[in-house]
Amino acid sequence: MMFDVYRIREDFPILQRKVNGRRLIYFDNAATTQKPKQVVGAIARYYFNYNANVHRGLHTLSQEASQAFEEAHEVLAHFINAYSWDEIIVNVLNTTDALNLVAWGWGLSNLKQGDEILVTVMEHHSNMLPWRVIAERVGAKVKYVDITDDGRIDLTDLESKLSERTKVVAFCLASNVVGTINDVRRISRLAHSVGAIAVGDGAQYVPHVPTNVRELELDFLAFSGHKMLGPTGTGVLWGKREILEEMKPFKVGGDTIKDVTLDDVVWHDLPWRFDAGTPHIAGVIGLAEAARYLMRLGMENVREHDVRLVRHTFKRFEELGSELTVLGPKDPESRTGLVSFNVKDLHHHTVAKALDLFGIAVRSGGHCAHPLHYRLGFKGSVRASYYIYNTIEEVDEFVNTLKLIISLKDRLAKEPVEEVCTGT
Ligand SMILES: Cc1ncc(COP(=O)(O)O)c(C=O)c1O
Repeated sequence: MMFDVYRIREDFPILQRKVNGRRLIYFDNAATTQKPKQVVGAIARYYFNYNANVHRGLHTLSQEASQAFEEAHEVLAHFINAYSWDEIIVNVLNTTDALNLVAWGWGLSNLKQGDEILVTVMEHHSNMLPWRVIAERVGAKVKYVDITDDGRIDLTDLESKLSERTKVVAFCLASNVVGTINDVRRISRLAHSVGAIAVGDGAQYVPHVPTNVRELELDFLAFSGHKMLGPTGTGVLWGKREILEEMKPFKVGGDTIKDVTLDDVVWHDLPWRFDAGTPHIAGVIGLAEAARYLMRLGMENVREHDVRLVRHTFKRFEELGSELTVLGPKDPESRTGLVSFNVKDLHHHTVAKALDLFGIAVRSGGHCAHPLHYRLGFKGSVRASYYIYNTIEEVDEFVNTLKLIISLKDRLAKEPVEEVCTGT
């Protein structure tokens, strides 16, 4: 399949929708992406043709469902170039759930009093709070790695905080606010230089950048299915085999074991020992279809498309001069396909509500990264985040609408700020 954005759009019926009388422009992809017909079709085929539980029945339907479920692991392993399908844990709801699994599943048995966990100021709360909670539980300490003013991880600060007490370095591969793509391999190597594990939050990276876990040298990588065309309630935790082998399941029950007596339990092989209870079979099948769809497009093309859209946005933003402050690096090549900004003298929610009146969906608020906003001197921001079906024309429409909003600023600034969405 060639990367033809207009052809791609035909796979997404929702893009034909009107909002407030205008054709929808969906720029909230960092929150969740839309789903193509192929993904919804794969889920429907499972429910209509071979719906059954997996790994629990000898009958045909259960065999077919188990086969599709197992194949999904292979597809996802291929998508991130894992060494093997059994390093893929799909029994997580999303990135948050996957990171909690690492913090509790690995952290509870490997962290102790006096240990240190390095977390960057750039993190989404999902890669910050689980570490704070586990640190409190075991008596470890969380230390924060600063960022530079243009929104990059400060590697000098990271190096100065590493010591033999450091047991975990947790960081995002790409930021959901400043968009920065981090030097993942360098940070992983720094973590390993003191014997710590490198835990990567791939929520904003895996859907946008060709991902090769062999090159990134991480120990864990978490990402969400729903941010890469898959259904909500799906995610992946990839882990290095030797670490997963050592890790006891955190949630236990059906399918996590090979045998149980009243005195003993033999845990199952990877990855089934992490699949407590009936998994989200339909969701996992849908997620694999999403990965297949992206691989047909080519992740290099997905990446190029992002850069094209961000470059065009920055070029058009020049027309708005000092009315706009963009958060993060100013070169499109350092970022994924999202742009967060603030309009002078207008609350971020006011801008987002005004854009919605023109059918343009963006996110506003703290984007679950409050410490990052505070570090940059803001309470929140407006975020336009792109994906494979967004066009240059949509970016133009968005910037033209922003210009209109700015021209109406005096009136808009008097409107009560929408606080319905607290923008967490
Ligand atoms: C960088 C980053 N990490 C983690 C998450 C959490 O993802 P989820 O809500 O799918 O768990 C998000 C979601 O926006 C994110 O952008």
